[in-house]
Amino acid sequence: MKILKDFSLKDYNSFNLDVKARFFVKINSEKDLPKLTESGHLNTGSFLIVGEGSNILFRDNFKGTVIHPDFKGIQLIKETDDLVFIKVGAGENWDNFVNRTVARGLHGIENLSLIPGAVGSVPVQNIGAYGVEVRNVIHKVKGFHIEKEDFSTLTAKDCEFGYRSSIFKKSLKGKFIVCSVIFKLKKHAKPDISYRGLREYFQHTEEATARKIRDKVIEIRQSKLPDPAILGNAGSFFKNPVVDQETANKLIHKFPEIPHFPDQDNQVKFSAAWLIEQCGWKGKRTGDAGVYSKHALILVNYGEASGRDIYDLSERIKDSVHKKFELLLDREVLVIG
Ligand code: EPU
Repeated sequence: MKILKDFSLKDYNSFNLDVKARFFVKINSEKDLPKLTESGHLNTGSFLIVGEGSNILFRDNFKGTVIHPDFKGIQLIKETDDLVFIKVGAGENWDNFVNRTVARGLHGIENLSLIPGAVGSVPVQNIGAYGVEVRNVIHKVKGFHIEKEDFSTLTAKDCEFGYRSSIFKKSLKGKFIVCSVIFKLKKHAKPDISYRGLREYFQHTEEATARKIRDKVIEIRQSKLPDPAILGNAGSFFKNPVVDQETANKLIHKFPEIPHFPDQDNQVKFSAAWLIEQCGWKGKRTGDAGVYSKHALILVNYGEASGRDIYDLSERIKDSVHKKFELLLDREVLVIG
């Protein structure tokens, strides 16, 4: 375990912002976590856990300690006739893991191909794309409970998963460091092609194997979403707003063409990208902060934008969507500072 001072986070945030952390700790071994508690770096409110930083916007330098869990390892735990249980370290790259499972012919996470980030952030965010949420394949999450100063294991049910949400963003926020995740994958094909782009493609072609779905998802993502290695971004900047049926009916009456999708508990989900596009933001740029030209939900850093520039742009977008549609957009990206 190494504690570095005034460390540049440029390589640890996908907006590529050159902000500094007062302290930066890279931990390679879970055994160091109790020691870290003793050092005072895990005091409430003064630290931040950052994996690959693909869902974070720093508005400023971070005055506390950034903890970067770098626990590695992919390990087969158990196998039944239908299922395979695999334990993956929080510091493993998510898409490398997806690729390995697909290469073995396993099913369950192929739709989640190419999502940037580390495995440790996967349950925190309950990542989701192309009809699948990771909650469906998470068996257990192991980690370090900072207040209890001990390791604990949560079942999927304990994790209280919701749309881009989990217990790690609620009651365990700032209190739990994910060390590893146990995934439960299927040996036999059970493809999910409910997402329109996949359904349209696979209904006219041969069988939807994990490999074919992964390839198609990668093709769709690359056609719509910018590669953070080339153009700084954090994926969807806002969540898709979910409202009750009555509010939805009013909006649909006023804007009959508005795309809407049924959600849990009789609620209705609207497409934030569509709302933003209707307000004229798609492809707009102010200095080096902009709205991606191929997808209105993605804010990008063209090079020299500051965290504040991107944040200010997001505020203006929120305001105009609120004015036109009376809907409040909620940021998906974690804003720090
Ligand atoms: N649309 C527009 N303008 C655009 C883009 C999209 O009007 O510029 C409309 C289209 O009508 C489209 C609808 O928005 O049918 C939905 O677009 P898309 O399928 O691209 O999905 P999304 O709702 O914008 C969500 C996730 C993405 C995930 C995709 C695919 C959220 C906040 N985002 O986006 O996740 O990849 O679905 O399943 O739920 C991420 O979280 O970072 C992320 C990229």
